[in-house]
Amino acid sequence: MKKELNILAISGSLRNQSSNTLLMHAMIKLATPNLRFEVYDGLSDLPHFNPDLDIEEGPVPVQNWRERLEHSDGVLICTPEYGNGVPGALKNVLDWIVSSGEWLNKPTIVIAASPSPMGGDKAHASLLLTLKMINAQVLQEGCLTIPYITLKMNKEGVIIDSKTQHALQKSLTILEEACNLKG
Ligand code: FNR
Repeated sequence: MKKELNILAISGSLRNQSSNTLLMHAMIKLATPNLRFEVYDGLSDLPHFNPDLDIEEGPVPVQNWRERLEHSDGVLICTPEYGNGVPGALKNVLDWIVSSGEWLNKPTIVIAASPSPMGGDKAHASLLLTLKMINAQVLQEGCLTIPYITLKMNKEGVIIDSKTQHALQKSLTILEEACNLKG
């Protein structure tokens, strides 16, 4: 019997009607039952990164974030792009891990979705740079940019484009396999 894997899912958008949050939930539905998802929705609770607060008994939301990351087998990120970059709230969660190291060797996939033709490619590339810097195990083949997301997923969060659905399923398989290899 296959081991159950804990996947921490993070949306980089704080918006109520976020297409990336909808996409994250659509992926959770597409995944096999071996993947048990926990959604991290604490982006707004984290203080802005400040090295002065980056101490053993730091802010409680930071401790909570680090514990949840530590106890996950893998990570799924779905994110928009703002101003050609990573949303500040999402970059902030990564900054809190640079010195503490909970992302070390953790299988991670990043999906950037945008209504634009570029699919959030700059945010995607920038996020991968930071994840590699903190030694996450970035699963490059499982990472995707999705242009024209509003044509590929409806307002109820149903993927209506079969190519996109297959690509997302493949990403999840890659994540599951990498997590299983870790044992
Ligand atoms: C955007 N958007 C955007 N899209 C993009 O592909 N590249 C970009 O640089 C930006 N920049 C940007 C700045 C600001 C201030 C806003 C409000 C929007 C559009 C963005 O992709 C779109 O609003 C998405 O719907 C946001 O993602 P969520 O919230 O739907 O997940």
